[in-house]
Amino acid sequence: MAPKTDKQKSKYTVDRGWPGGFEGETLTRRGFMTGVALGAGGVASAMFGLPALGFALGPIFEKTEHRALLDVGSTKDFNGDTYLPAVITTTAGIGQAGKTLIYVRKNTNPTDKQPWPYIAISTRCAHLGCPVRFIEAARSFVCPCHGGTYNYEGEVTGGPPVRPLDRFETFVKSDRVLVGERFSVNSQLERVPTRDPGAHVDGFWQVLYPPRPTV
Ligand code: FES
Repeated sequence: MAPKTDKQKSKYTVDRGWPGGFEGETLTRRGFMTGVALGAGGVASAMFGLPALGFALGPIFEKTEHRALLDVGSTKDFNGDTYLPAVITTTAGIGQAGKTLIYVRKNTNPTDKQPWPYIAISTRCAHLGCPVRFIEAARSFVCPCHGGTYNYEGEVTGGPPVRPLDRFETFVKSDRVLVGERFSVNSQLERVPTRDPGAHVDGFWQVLYPPRPTV
């Protein structure tokens, strides 16, 4: 192979005989624009791709910190016939904003799916998170925002909510009822990882709504 001439070694586009070369330029405009377009495409792809990747993979690296069990009253305070309200602190250090209302009743029929001695139902609506209320006369939970309704077990009976109301773990120690972590339940009332309001937990849909560390 013939050795390169000085012009072929030159950094200038004109010397190298490149199409579109211009006196004094080391890069053609086409090459420059191609580089800019590729760079912008890479940035745009990263803007869309990285958050989605983080959202999907985040739960894998999640380090769950379990908060202390919360005392909601004596075992004598609750029975299996109706729910009683109790206020618990789910996020410490932020005052009233960290407190939430739950409804508690005795679990008169523990099963493999729901082995907890007490049923503690979250008041966070499974549609968009409005606070639901238990209506004793109807033995139902009702959401004031968009008309979501749930039966005595917290299963959806009407309106837009996509899954039953979340629940909390419960324990008994020294005749006190203690409340632990929140969890979501699917349409079979089986425990599943906690989801945000609006997130589906049944069938294929649950793949599209992965749990997040912050729920
Ligand atoms: S937030 Fe409860 S029905 Fe919409």
